[in-house]
Amino acid sequence: MIGDSIFFVFLVTVLGYGARSQAPPPSAARQIAQLDNNDHLQYVLSNILKPRVVGTKGHDEVATFIASELKTLGFDVELDSFSAYTPVFRNLTFTNIVGTINSNAAEFVALACHYDSKYFPNDPGFVGATDSAVPCALMLNLAKVLMPYIQQIRGRNDFGLMLIFFDGEEAFQEWTQQDSVYGSKNLAAKWSNSLYQMPTTKQTIRNIDRIEVLILLDLIGAQSPRFRNYYMRTQALHNQLVGIERYLAKAGLLNTRGFMFYPRLEFSGVDDDHRPFYEQNVPILHIISTPFPKHWHTKYDDAEHLHWPTIKDFNRIFRVFLYQYITNREASFNLRSIPEYH
Ligand SMILES: *[C@@H]1O[C@H](CO)[C@@H](O)[C@H](O)[C@H]1NC(C)=O
Repeated sequence: MIGDSIFFVFLVTVLGYGARSQAPPPSAARQIAQLDNNDHLQYVLSNILKPRVVGTKGHDEVATFIASELKTLGFDVELDSFSAYTPVFRNLTFTNIVGTINSNAAEFVALACHYDSKYFPNDPGFVGATDSAVPCALMLNLAKVLMPYIQQIRGRNDFGLMLIFFDGEEAFQEWTQQDSVYGSKNLAAKWSNSLYQMPTTKQTIRNIDRIEVLILLDLIGAQSPRFRNYYMRTQALHNQLVGIERYLAKAGLLNTRGFMFYPRLEFSGVDDDHRPFYEQNVPILHIISTPFPKHWHTKYDDAEHLHWPTIKDFNRIFRVFLYQYITNREASFNLRSIPEYH
């Protein structure tokens, strides 16, 4: 019984999404994949890859850098600052950074990462290269490289792009629901408790319901990652990543052998910044490597241990994905009409 209904929903997902999403001609995917701007990627990464524990100078510098890059790229920038109690430092001030194209739009595709680094009392030099300096650098690099296409959606009132840099993802002591994801809890609560009037129907909805899908990037930059598919609602989107990876591999446009995107739907046991949004019914695409990178939460999660062929391949695959998403989006994907199975 359960199996049957899952299969039915899967079909609806694929057909429902497929009807609206026409893959652009292969030449476009090839061309977009090759738009690398490695100098820019290195530049943004070098400005993020430093100890940036909440409440420290490094953290302030990184926050200032991200906000200023977003402004330079033409995003509206909103800073969501708040105070919250933490086990080690008592109250700290956290700041989520949100960059938006078409701030008044009814719906958004939201990409997200966390920019804080974890506090280790015995390792003040911890830089969290995969966790999550690289994901944040990739988001800024994507925006930079795809700007000519992002400009084409500017001015639309039905659809916009949002880049969310969460603060305070890391636990200060031990990971619990309280001691973790401080920034995303605050933003999800704020957007759940404020309203927006739809420009066409004049209907009022919660701001959080304007997020068509939250695509969370985490733990990216180590060799041989495995990105699995955790959510029924975003199955079609995940499958698109699988397809793009295969297409680019066949076209000889990837550096690494083997695949990083795995199509099979699996149960997610990984808690992360998506939790407060998931609990408010936001469709989630969680792009995190499981198992976690070998050097996760150790001093070796640093520049020296990044695997650049993998990062460049991920960047190409994800760039084509985002390009297809924004250029093909004519009507709402309405992923909320698809039930989650767990
Ligand atoms: C400390 O954080 C709590 C929330 O965790 C908040 O309610 C309180 O107002 C904060 N105190 C100060 C002095 O900011």
